[in-house]
Amino acid sequence: MHLVTFPLISLLFSLASSFSIPNFIQEHLLSARSESSPNPIATQYPNNVTGTINGTIAVVPIPYKLARSIIPAQYNILRKAYECQLFGFPRDSYPLIVRAGFDHGVGLFSLGLSVPDFQKLMIFYPFVDLLGDGYSSFAYEKYILISSDNLVALGGAASYGQIPVPTNFTPSLDAYAFKSADMVDKGSQEIFLDAYTDLSSIHPVVTTKFKPTRGIAPWPLDFYVNITNQPSFTDGLSCDNQLNLFNTTLSTGKNAPVAVRGEIMVKAPYIPTDSTFRDLHGIKVDIAFIENNQVPCSQLKGYSGTGSGD
Ligand SMILES: *[C@@H]1O[C@H](CO)[C@@H](O)[C@H](O)[C@H]1NC(C)=O
Ligand SMILES: *[C@@H]1O[C@H](CO)[C@@H](O)[C@H](O)[C@H]1NC(C)=O
Ligand SMILES: *[C@@H]1O[C@H](CO)[C@@H](O)[C@H](O)[C@H]1NC(C)=O
Ligand SMILES: *[C@@H]1O[C@H](CO)[C@@H](O)[C@H](O)[C@H]1NC(C)=O
Repeated sequence: MHLVTFPLISLLFSLASSFSIPNFIQEHLLSARSESSPNPIATQYPNNVTGTINGTIAVVPIPYKLARSIIPAQYNILRKAYECQLFGFPRDSYPLIVRAGFDHGVGLFSLGLSVPDFQKLMIFYPFVDLLGDGYSSFAYEKYILISSDNLVALGGAASYGQIPVPTNFTPSLDAYAFKSADMVDKGSQEIFLDAYTDLSSIHPVVTTKFKPTRGIAPWPLDFYVNITNQPSFTDGLSCDNQLNLFNTTLSTGKNAPVAVRGEIMVKAPYIPTDSTFRDLHGIKVDIAFIENNQVPCSQLKGYSGTGSGD
């Protein structure tokens, strides 16, 4: 067992002793109601944590000054690195990313360990110069909204210094729901996923709704590949190096990423003041990932993925 996966494994084990964690076969049965496809790479990388995330990734242009006030002052923002990828991006703006979806088939195959399926909503700030070298891009994350009943996922986020917020989602245990019950043409339907952090409240803290559109534009697919592959951090002590592979059967052919356009409402404190962002562009896609947990961030200096698929 390699050192870097040890914290996650020990976390899985410590939770497994007090709660029952289903093995791969049981998990498959338990999550049979989910519409997400199985993890296609679990056996290909048996000694790594792998999984899938099905959902949406949206680019939210916010004033640069607002981003500057949220990202800790000691880190520079690598403006040129995103400006050169986002032709036509509004001036003096910064690309905040909102990624919402469903984690399915997450586990470590060789040890038969798996994490029950859960939902999450991430609000993150890419292109942060964590190491102060002027070129290595990292993603800063402060809060993560995670299914309130998933103690493994909540604990995993806390181990990075992140603030994991127990959340109930509508729909429950799915990547998103279709607005209309008419399932004839799923492909053109509006989709939504809403998050409730006050578990007894009927008022969501984040709502997302998107309609499929034609062609991934104006932000190129490569940009989504780039930002989903930047190592993420909170306290800067260790990084989460999640490789998002856009080249598996989950994200190609009939499952290729679909362009979406829509709107996101976020309440404080997840953004400093309650805000609704309209006319956003993003993609909906299911993605297989390999996750290297608790990597010393300095080891990821100059990180630019591992190949053409991430
Ligand atoms: C992703 O989730 C949606 C909503 O449940 C589902 O319709 C779609 O088939 C899933 N995608 C894949 C590739 O499994
Ligand atoms: C799989 O895990 C090992 C041990 O932690 C690591 O060295 C390797 O880079 C990981 N593989 C990938 C593709 O990230
Ligand atoms: C993202 O893009 C920046 C700017 O081109 C590059 O330096 C970085 O290596 C890329 N990161 C990944 C993970 O692709
Ligand atoms: C998918 O991408 C990864 C990382 O870039 C690479 O290691 C792997 O060989 C690619 N798989 C295929 C089928 O192209």
